[in-house]
Amino acid sequence: MIPRQARRSLLRWVALGFALLASYGTGAAYAVRFLFPTRRRRERRVFACFTSSLPPGASLKRRAPGGREVLLTNAAGEIRALSNICPHLGCTVHWEEHESRFFCPCHQGVFAPDGIAISGPPAKAGQRLERFPVSVEGEAVFLHLTEEV
Ligand code: FES
Repeated sequence: MIPRQARRSLLRWVALGFALLASYGTGAAYAVRFLFPTRRRRERRVFACFTSSLPPGASLKRRAPGGREVLLTNAAGEIRALSNICPHLGCTVHWEEHESRFFCPCHQGVFAPDGIAISGPPAKAGQRLERFPVSVEGEAVFLHLTEEV
């Protein structure tokens, strides 16, 4: 038989052991989450416009969820969605229908309809406008966006 004093001391050590294990375990779990964060991505399909509002040569600006502005263009019958943020220094580019190109007024950057820079500082740096996937279902044009949640 274990004496009462020794039993209490043993229980105290066992309780202390569990408390230390719980606190260090929690700390270790937070450290693992900090060092190896898990980012989940969510695909989102957003209605952008009807094809009738985007005839060949035209461009529309849409604000996507999250605040990003997207330029939808119909160049030679192909509908594309590109960011209107210049990759050079972040100015706003716009579509020039008569030239069938994107133009950045800050440093005269020029982009082809597919978003690849063809003149100015962005071309020298080999940059392009960010492109977003689009799909056309019937008359509806949808943007496909990826968000980190
Ligand atoms: S910011 Fe667009 S060309 Fe410089």
